[in-house]
Amino acid sequence: MTDVPLVFADGIVRRDASRGQTLLHPATFALHAGDRVAITGGSGSGKSVFLRALALLDPLDAGRVVWHGAPVARAAIPRYRRSVAYLRQRPALLDGTVEDNLRYPFELRAYRDTRFDREHAANLVAQSGRAAGFLDKRASELSGGEAQITALIRVLQLAPEVLLLDEPTASLDPESSHAIEELVRAWFDADRRAHASIWVSHDPAQAARMSERHLTMRAGVLDESAVTTMHGAASR
Ligand SMILES: Nc1ncnc2c1ncn2[C@@H]1O[C@H](COP(=O)(O)OP(=O)(O)O)[C@@H](O)[C@H]1O
Ligand SMILES: [Mg+2]
Repeated sequence: MTDVPLVFADGIVRRDASRGQTLLHPATFALHAGDRVAITGGSGSGKSVFLRALALLDPLDAGRVVWHGAPVARAAIPRYRRSVAYLRQRPALLDGTVEDNLRYPFELRAYRDTRFDREHAANLVAQSGRAAGFLDKRASELSGGEAQITALIRVLQLAPEVLLLDEPTASLDPESSHAIEELVRAWFDADRRAHASIWVSHDPAQAARMSERHLTMRAGVLDESAVTTMHGAASR
């Protein structure tokens, strides 16, 4: 049994230099394969700041992110982001069809070794409960829920090992929220020994459904003491 976390935040800090304000106080947190974590906390408490820092989307002001036991070097950041995928609350889609959006990542340098697989994409579309014609829909004509489903499928087809979900179902209709949860659940269940997720949610019922470990964020402080672990704590 290996005890090396998939991702380890080692005292990561984010500051707003222009106002001299600390957005994220030193946060230390280990995410192991098989972990499903929920983070709750008030609006503006720093949940997105933490998740984006962990995704290495924003520069760290202190600390480091350790991935499979090794600090992530600058040159490895694209590979890291491919493996540790961040899904934002309001997805950004390109003009064009759903399929155009799903094809887009494969044009990027980090994905040169892989190719768009239409059958795989169609399977994910079916799994989300969309009709077969969904791939041909215009992105501009999608509902908020359909746009988020597209954004999630775009990430899932790239086979990430970690999903960082930043309130992905906030302001979505219940049916779309359910589809998002089921897609994430199926991805996690497909390889529990390799996958892990962090779900920022404002909905305690959803947090309970989609995680076993809960953390809270308050005024930029990730609250370790409030962690409740329903399984696995003793063996770590
Ligand atoms: N890039 C940034 N520069 C300056 N301030 C930021 C930046 N990103 C977020 N903030 C501020 O940090 C605080 C936490 O924001 P955020 O993490 O988005 O909150 P939430 O918990 O609602 O996700 C807020 O006061 C926000 O205005
Ligand atoms: Mg947020």
